[in-house]
Amino acid sequence: MTRTIDDLIDAMTLKEQVSLLSGEDFWSLPAIERLDIGKLRVTDGPNGARGGGSLLGGVKSACFPVGIGLGATWNVELLEEIGAALAHEAKSKGAHMLLAPTVNIQRSVTNGRNFECYSEDPVLTAELASAYIVGLQGQGIAATIKHFAGNESEIERTTISSIIDERTLREVYFVPFEWAVKKAGAMGVMTAYNRVNGIYASEHNWLISDVLRGEWGFDGLVMSDWFGSHSTAETVNAGLDLEMPGPPRDRGAKLVAAVEAGEVSRETIRARVRAVLSVMERTGALHDRRAHEEHANDRPEHRALIRRAGAEGMVLLKNDNVLPLTAGQRIAVIGPNAKTAQIMGGGSSQLNPHYRVSPWEGLVSAVGEDALGYAPGCGNSRFQPLLQAKLQVEYFANRTLSGNVVHVETMEAAEAFWLDRIAQGKISSDRFSARLKAQFVPEEAGIYRLGVASAGLSKVYVNGTLVADAWTNWTRGRTFFEEGCDEVVGEVALDAGKPAEIIIEFATKDHSALGLAALRVGIGLPLGDAAIAAAVGTAANADVALVFVGRNGEWDTEGSDLPGIELPGRQNELVSAIARANRNTVVVLQTGGPIEMPWIDEVAGIVQAWYPGQEAGNAIADVLLGKAEPGGRLPQTFPVRWSDNPAYSQDPRVYPGMDGGVEYREGVFVGYRHYERHGISPLFPFGFGLSYTDFSLGELSVDNTRFEADGTVTVSLDVRNMGARAGSTVVQLYVAPENAPVARPEKELKALAKIGLTPGETRRLTMTLDARAFAYFDVENQVWAVAPGLYRLQLGTDSATTMLAEKVERMGRIAMLR
Ligand code: BGC
Repeated sequence: MTRTIDDLIDAMTLKEQVSLLSGEDFWSLPAIERLDIGKLRVTDGPNGARGGGSLLGGVKSACFPVGIGLGATWNVELLEEIGAALAHEAKSKGAHMLLAPTVNIQRSVTNGRNFECYSEDPVLTAELASAYIVGLQGQGIAATIKHFAGNESEIERTTISSIIDERTLREVYFVPFEWAVKKAGAMGVMTAYNRVNGIYASEHNWLISDVLRGEWGFDGLVMSDWFGSHSTAETVNAGLDLEMPGPPRDRGAKLVAAVEAGEVSRETIRARVRAVLSVMERTGALHDRRAHEEHANDRPEHRALIRRAGAEGMVLLKNDNVLPLTAGQRIAVIGPNAKTAQIMGGGSSQLNPHYRVSPWEGLVSAVGEDALGYAPGCGNSRFQPLLQAKLQVEYFANRTLSGNVVHVETMEAAEAFWLDRIAQGKISSDRFSARLKAQFVPEEAGIYRLGVASAGLSKVYVNGTLVADAWTNWTRGRTFFEEGCDEVVGEVALDAGKPAEIIIEFATKDHSALGLAALRVGIGLPLGDAAIAAAVGTAANADVALVFVGRNGEWDTEGSDLPGIELPGRQNELVSAIARANRNTVVVLQTGGPIEMPWIDEVAGIVQAWYPGQEAGNAIADVLLGKAEPGGRLPQTFPVRWSDNPAYSQDPRVYPGMDGGVEYREGVFVGYRHYERHGISPLFPFGFGLSYTDFSLGELSVDNTRFEADGTVTVSLDVRNMGARAGSTVVQLYVAPENAPVARPEKELKALAKIGLTPGETRRLTMTLDARAFAYFDVENQVWAVAPGLYRLQLGTDSATTMLAEKVERMGRIAMLR
């Protein structure tokens, strides 16, 4: 006889039921041996499956392009393939659930997690996320779409209240979650850290129980973000199934007591347990009795997929006949990102990649080193370069570096995240101190900059002298998920070749939200005028100069928003200097979002490559050399300047927030909707990207120019590759209401199709719009409303240029959709 989930719940004691509503540790739920119930294991995503290790080390994993890089592919089939590949990765880490995808909307250009999100547009985000989930779950791994809802910034991220009106939530921020539930059957949802209109997302009854479960019919598991639940009865009653991570903080014995006191009903507990068990059943976790193992599976098919996906997301923004590069050219490879592979952003999506290919390495394997010259020009890091040296670490079971050393280990670099039990389980990460010793051998003589940042207290001595002190006046800053201080930098004169002794002292302090101890020490010799001059020399001697600039995961990171969208350091100056020295200058950008480009008219080419995963340099070389089409189109508008962005305001309530709240005052006018409403010309519009070939869109035919409330409208057209190379284009269909009874965006993306064509090939494309594509949310009546009247259907290959248009008319009276 097979046991149903309800039989199992009946067989459990209250304590056992409650045990399934909290993690046991960081990444898993407890097993219930007595009933032969296995452990549900989760792993971060979204650009890979990191497994249960720390953010830094851990078993190696395949590193896929970050969210914005996938958003830029506009390729639904590709996202499904990636989802399926990630399922294999999750399995290799013994997990049943991937904490992905991230579908918050790119409201501001400075969000630290902008890189992790797909787009500023809800429909594009929803289409891609749904495909990713279908791919993932098709292979038996549950998705955990996140962060529901209103998590569009990293400022005061664990407490801020996102103040968003209901229509905006429904029309913009909810859409990816709604589609993921209704169209892709997402098995998991992670609530956001923040509050929504005053109430923590993790205890928001309306969000979780009314909308997600009630209206959309979600039948999976809702978990908190890590340490993002703050109450016992409130979260359980609101519909939050799982408090993460473990061990239990507000549940366990406290929840049993709350049930016994009548604050939570037994039926509610059963409902929460049923949700957990149903996902365990669907993913096989329920009967998974295998010992936990993690493997590094570096598969050739993943390598190939990542390389292809990287190129598919790269956006050719400008090309004055300079790309693709031609055989035999002498190429200057310049810039801080040339020899450093920028493959991912920072934060919980980080993983230990199988390998990382830098642009330099990608170019060397494509054209050989003899064709290349190199100069870094300047730096772009936010912190001093990580101290890479063998460190001996002595641990003390107190906060004063006193008494016996309880454990000794070595580290390969001066960067540590201490979570949970550490030092082989001998001490707890919230109460210890450590002394780390290393030798640093400078290659050159000079005044070095040494920086330390820590979640906890730290001091750094060089040859016995205190150089950087993040102990005495430690203050919370923007590192380590807002748990660390800003980097404290000191200077020290060092001689070439003469080893310097570095001693770092670290001690934990009382924690706040995340229970995390962390440390990072960097040291470096800043590049100066001579480095820019050397780069100019290299560029002047080449046929073409490639300048690899941008940011890295220190900037584009969970836990801190960007200070602005200018290229950091002296990179703008470097680009202009190189452009003066070589008229064939191509800028290859790697950032997790838009940047200002004061040199735009000075350079011949611009490619936006984002953070494309472990194959970064190969994918970049493929695009530069024309082995691959630059398949990407911008999923986010690039404004001329930061202040053009919808979330930029003189009023801090709009951004970054004030008195614990951030007001989404622009309402539904996010992204291109904002620029169009205010007549602001962007630097590059949403949906924009050039190809190495040309396309034409043929005549538009619409099946139904006058349609009834419940009818659909289907458009079709021929797309033709007019050029001599194979390539792809993205046809975008926007709906523009002409006489809306409420203020609506000038137009909204409602359908998209990426299409690859060989030279001269023509293909017929069909896109269907259902009633919802014309609707707005009527808050008073709590329905989607479609007003009668005229709608323009606008087709093009970016949001700024309408290539084809047709008017359709919705007949009859206003229609209400549920
Ligand atoms: C992030 C989540 C992530 C979780 C577990 C949090 O800091 O916001 O996206 O899944 O950590 O690492």
